[in-house]
Amino acid sequence: MNALTPISSSRRPRVLALANQKGGVGKTTTAINLGTALAAIGEKVLIIDLDPQGNASTGLGVDRKSRASSTYDVLCGDIGLGQALQETAVPGLCIAPSTLDLLGVELEIASAKDRAHRLKKAIDEIADDQRCCDLTYILIDCPPSLSLITINAMTAADAVLVPLQCEFFALEGLSQLLKTVEQVRNGLNPRLMIQGVVLTMYDPRNNLSGQVMADVREFLGEKVYETVIPRNVRVSEAPSYGKPALLYDLRCSGSQAYLRLASEVIKRERELRAA
Ligand SMILES: Nc1ncnc2c1ncn2[C@@H]1O[C@H](COP(=O)(O)OP(=O)(O)O)[C@@H](O)[C@H]1O
Ligand SMILES: [Mg+2]
Repeated sequence: MNALTPISSSRRPRVLALANQKGGVGKTTTAINLGTALAAIGEKVLIIDLDPQGNASTGLGVDRKSRASSTYDVLCGDIGLGQALQETAVPGLCIAPSTLDLLGVELEIASAKDRAHRLKKAIDEIADDQRCCDLTYILIDCPPSLSLITINAMTAADAVLVPLQCEFFALEGLSQLLKTVEQVRNGLNPRLMIQGVVLTMYDPRNNLSGQVMADVREFLGEKVYETVIPRNVRVSEAPSYGKPALLYDLRCSGSQAYLRLASEVIKRERELRAA
């Protein structure tokens, strides 16, 4: 960063899109628990729930009745992102919740010229909003598709973080995801990078899990985080209590892994910024 960098851009939070068009690979679990872990180590974090299912919102204890303003309203341009924010039980972590309305947003904005830039615009505008001025990280929980919603996330993001489940078809579909990142970089967002790939639901008792891990590391090299998230029943139980795993059981292996992942993400962000 040099002396000519405007103050406002140096204060812009780092925006990471958690994307993988496969469902059930750990995007939402990673958004919730990485967000919590980042907040626990002093970052100020906003999770933007861009999945109509709203699992990140539910998992952070925001029930459907209290989602009067949501990311749907933000993408429609009716409200600013700051108006959609809700505090969570985790100090330093807030969320912009989603509702099922989001299912219809693509049709609503399809013919708008700025349809891919709606989220970026909303994030750019929070610099002027008191409620958001100290944010340091924004994590976007994407839906399981490469639709306009995910394109909005990638257009707004500094980098993509890809959760990849340790299962046989882990790499299937990855080339399509990487191609989409490349297309966004070539047009909508030239600064988009891949922050990293995190292996999720690793089961050390399952030989296949180990084999998948080795294959993914061979294929993707150092893009894969050292931290691997183990399959851990406490992690899967936590959302039904409306809590991140780190609040539900800080000592469980899953929570500890997400704390390590948070440190790695911060370290990589420093390296990417310095580059
Ligand atoms: N580390 C883990 N250990 C056990 N279960 C997990 C873990 N990560 C995710 N899950 C479970 O797997 C399912 C899919 O995870 P989720 O984060 O919702 O995926 P996605 O958002 O990609 O669809 C959920 O039921 C979740 O609780
Ligand atoms: Mg999800």
